[in-house]
Amino acid sequence: MNTLIAKLRETAERDNATDLRAAFAADPERFSKFSVSFEDLLMDFSKTAINDEILDLLVKLADEAGVAEKRAAMFAGEKINITEDRAVLHTALRNRANTPVMVDGADVMPDVNEVLAAMGDFAEGIRTGAIRGATGKPFTDVVNIGIGGSDLGPAMTTLALAPFHDGPRLHYVSNVDGAHIADTLKGLDPATTLIIVASKTFTTIETMTNAQTARKFIASALGEEAVAHHFCAVSTALDKVADFGIDQSRVFGFWDWVGGRYSIWSAIGLPLMIAIGEKNFGKFLDGAYAIDNHFREAPVRENLPFLLGLVGFYQRVILDYPSRAVIPYDQRMSRFAAYLQQLDMESNGKSVTIESEAVTTPTGPIVWGEPGTNGQHAFFQLLHQGTNIIPIEFMIAANGFESDLRHQHQLLMANCLAQSEALMKGRSLDEAKAQLLDKGMDAGKAEKIAPHRVFSGNRPSITFVYDLLTPYALGRLIALYEHRVFVEGVLFGINSFDQWGVELGKELATGLLPVVSGKESAEGHDSSTKGLVAALLEAAK
Ligand code: F6P
Repeated sequence: MNTLIAKLRETAERDNATDLRAAFAADPERFSKFSVSFEDLLMDFSKTAINDEILDLLVKLADEAGVAEKRAAMFAGEKINITEDRAVLHTALRNRANTPVMVDGADVMPDVNEVLAAMGDFAEGIRTGAIRGATGKPFTDVVNIGIGGSDLGPAMTTLALAPFHDGPRLHYVSNVDGAHIADTLKGLDPATTLIIVASKTFTTIETMTNAQTARKFIASALGEEAVAHHFCAVSTALDKVADFGIDQSRVFGFWDWVGGRYSIWSAIGLPLMIAIGEKNFGKFLDGAYAIDNHFREAPVRENLPFLLGLVGFYQRVILDYPSRAVIPYDQRMSRFAAYLQQLDMESNGKSVTIESEAVTTPTGPIVWGEPGTNGQHAFFQLLHQGTNIIPIEFMIAANGFESDLRHQHQLLMANCLAQSEALMKGRSLDEAKAQLLDKGMDAGKAEKIAPHRVFSGNRPSITFVYDLLTPYALGRLIALYEHRVFVEGVLFGINSFDQWGVELGKELATGLLPVVSGKESAEGHDSSTKGLVAALLEAAK
């Protein structure tokens, strides 16, 4: 590994591989060499600092790291999440061929199918009005209470698939800040509101606290008996759900081999299914399944998730870019970056290898983003002219749903392509000066102003193009990113499937609750924490 990494660094420097402008000028075939398609999904990575030799070395590196073997182990249900002794089988949740998937000697597929069928019955019951609230009224509003993986997946996908949303209105509450649930419940009628409590562990303080607030909202308006009619739950901890008082027939289970950030395909997807219906949810699973097969079967050089992982690793470790931005040119994908933040950063934000040693290369990058064209009028200045290079991943559909607004979609496409072109090409000092002189500026002033109008160029981006953002296409896109995170995780040599880094803050918050409630002294905390507690208590009314 280390020899190959050193060779990659050497090659990148020697070839001045980051000179994209020169690479395009030298090779008219660059796009066809460095773009791949799966079905209608095209991934163009020709505007990244890759060349044949670098790609060869990256493929060798993947061989040496055992990406293919580890991929096989994941799909086969081996316990690759070694720190939690768990299999990693979100792929079983969308295993549409229904072939057996064994964990501890038992096929998980019968349980997967049973829950999917129960979700389907329940979702259709809510959508048709066959399942009603305590007063006999059909449900018009569904509130999903969950956080992290129990919120971001369904919230992001519900928004992304708005054109398919023909069920009741969906609302998502995640933050323990009372403002979130208060603002959400305001204006809702308890008699027509269904609450889904979604928590893998059913211990997460934010979710449990919000669930109790929602319970009061229902019980105070309709009586304690109404809770059974207005609540359902999604969890792996069925005993804890029973303690909360939610009827077993209203509980949709999943399993410890489904990571929270990989759980949208499980019962955590129930709100999405209620929004778009069982059939469309099935198509969403189909899309992910198609990528699973592609990831398992396609040769590396035609394999989208594999290549995306290789390029991501190259940009992070060899070129040392600390962050990457994901910019969908699709307003409905406005939560996609937030979703990917958990998927990527909770998976690959690690400093210890799978062998429990300190890592010797950087690991997961900072992932962030916003939809275009909005971002262009906010942070793109830094992407074009700032001192850090931030690789970008653009995505754009060839078609919008608003066929009467085709001219707006054309503007959207033009902007997306213009940004990647501008980032790559840039504008030299001579070009900037010539442009100013052409406009009639005098030479002295042009000399002063031109440097401000220079774009260094050579700023990398990947662009995804697809026909239309359907449930199938979205399923495909999410699964693609899941497998990219997997590939990068193997190359970093880490376990992508635990998340111990979230624990310490949780523990300290538990200890600080009695302190900020004024019941215990802040003694024993550091002086900053003590000072902040004092300021909060003094200002509290
Ligand atoms: O705190 C991190 C985390 O454990 C995530 O991994 C998870 O998605 C989220 O909290 C919510 O957990 P749960 O579904 O158990 O409430």
